[in-house]
Amino acid sequence: MNMPQDRELLDDQIAYYRARAPEYDAWWFRTGRFDRGAENNAAWNADVAHVERAVVDMLAKTRPSRVLELACGTGLFTRHLAPRVEHVTAVDASPEVIAINRGRVGASNVDYVQADLFDFEPNARYDLVFMGFWLSHVPHARFDAFWAMVRRALQPQAFAWVVDSAHDPTSHAVDHQTPDRHAGIATRRLDDGREFRIVKVFWEPATLATRLRACGFDAQLAQTKRYFIYGGATPT
Ligand SMILES: C[S@@+](CC[C@H](N)C(=O)[O-])C[C@H]1O[C@@H](n2cnc3c(N)ncnc32)[C@H](O)[C@@H]1O
Repeated sequence: MNMPQDRELLDDQIAYYRARAPEYDAWWFRTGRFDRGAENNAAWNADVAHVERAVVDMLAKTRPSRVLELACGTGLFTRHLAPRVEHVTAVDASPEVIAINRGRVGASNVDYVQADLFDFEPNARYDLVFMGFWLSHVPHARFDAFWAMVRRALQPQAFAWVVDSAHDPTSHAVDHQTPDRHAGIATRRLDDGREFRIVKVFWEPATLATRLRACGFDAQLAQTKRYFIYGGATPT
């Protein structure tokens, strides 16, 4: 198989999230450059509540014991996973976000692994592979290999759970250009003006489900009113 020629872009993506670590949460909490005004912020917060409720309901219904969280970031989802399961293995390429996550979650049942997910090979099998706002950073050319890795990480009867961005012109910072829905790439700016290129693939529930079916997963996906897609994918 030809290796995708995207290493430089993926390195830029890692560098971006390392540099962004101390300002990352402004996106989720709609502060600073992510404050889009009362109306949009209220719509965002309603969608945040929607996906967080969906995650908590999924955990209550399926009761996974061992969870692999891919691209755990600063812990916006780790904090919901850790108190509800026996153990979380939380992987991210950025030591800076892992430090913030550890400080936020402070749980003895979370082990952190610093690794590039495009080189990562799970050394255990899990009841749940969780990825929040990670799949959109997987280039099309690496999609199949990524999901083959997810499959290797899953116990029989286990499943993956995805939360990610829908395409909305108010989801990014005020000084970011709205990315073309189909470009697969976006430019992102930090508070100090530095710019980076990242992979950004905007999936819709139906197209993602079709794409996942082609690599052997049965997906049940939904969308919040404006900002997010979410749902489960089970190996067929
Ligand atoms: C959009 S953030 C999502 C973080 C967290 N899951 C959340 O929902 O807030 C993407 C995360 O992917 C991590 N990341 C970027 N490239 C990576 C790579 N090649 N391998 C592992 N993690 C990577 C970043 O450090 C960042 O924490």
